[in-house]
Amino acid sequence: MKVALTGIKPTGIPHIGNYLGAIKPALKLSETCEARYFIADYHALNACKDPAAIRNMTLEIAAAWLASGLDPKKVLFYKQSLVPQTFELLTILLAFTPKGLMNRAHAYKAMLQANAEAGRDPDDGVNMGLYTYPVLMAADILLFDTDYVPVGNDQFQHVEMAVDIAQSFNFVYGQECFRLPQPLATEHSKTLMGLDGRKMSKSYGNIIPIFAPEKELRKLVMRIVTNSQGVEEPKDPETCTIFSIYRNFASPEQVEALRQRYLAGGMGWGHAKQELFEVMNAALTPLRERYTELMANPRGIIDILEEGSARARLLAAEKIRMLRGVIGMD
Ligand code: TRP
Repeated sequence: MKVALTGIKPTGIPHIGNYLGAIKPALKLSETCEARYFIADYHALNACKDPAAIRNMTLEIAAAWLASGLDPKKVLFYKQSLVPQTFELLTILLAFTPKGLMNRAHAYKAMLQANAEAGRDPDDGVNMGLYTYPVLMAADILLFDTDYVPVGNDQFQHVEMAVDIAQSFNFVYGQECFRLPQPLATEHSKTLMGLDGRKMSKSYGNIIPIFAPEKELRKLVMRIVTNSQGVEEPKDPETCTIFSIYRNFASPEQVEALRQRYLAGGMGWGHAKQELFEVMNAALTPLRERYTELMANPRGIIDILEEGSARARLLAAEKIRMLRGVIGMD
């Protein structure tokens, strides 16, 4: 069976764009692959130095994936910081990573550009963790003989860098020590629209959180921006935010029925929103309930992550032993 691996940055409670674009596809993939999904907490340290925030966000994101259906008996679910072999591999890989490769990383280049535009020193606010981020990510991936890495398009470059680094290592020692990973796009061909019709994103403040209580969910749905077409006018489902979200939560028959009502005219936006709220609430209520239950007992979440991390360490230790032999440090 192929190995699928992805890292989840602990950055607050996900929204339905994350759920549909990252969580659901990764869980789908775990049905046909040996899945290894982990909380990438050391990646968060570059930007966040608040221990309470790191702890909370780790619990929240772990609970979010568990509530969304991740079964820790089927998916190896662990915490990066509890697998120290990652950081030994990071040290090894640093010796195989040209500095120039890091200079080309998008996230780093974006920082340089923002600094240039603000008239600051080019490396202002850039720590070495951020600069070498792609090498840590390569260590995450290469430690577990990964075949597929389900990620958003913004992460493709990082996976390609992991391939470059793995190839230089394999070339130097003349053996296939590392399996070469392949990024898999998890996002929809059409990204999910937010309340204002732009891409749903925390930075636009136009999100619907997955676990929003029923009342809040209704309020948010009612706030979706529509055009000023009157009730009687026929409407175009393809350009409508309400419809674009609806099709992700409703059955194919429901989607077709709503499409017909759009085209026929005689249906106001308030009605379409009510339909959307109902399918979303039906789909999300069980998740919300599981999430609340999990968060009421953080110890249970920690136990799951510790148990997964113990199993991950066994696999990782095996790999490091082999690599140490190859580089002459056995
Ligand atoms: N960089 C990824 C992100 O920002 C998170 C991540 C860390 C990751 N390590 C990984 C993803 C390994 C895939 C594989 O979302």
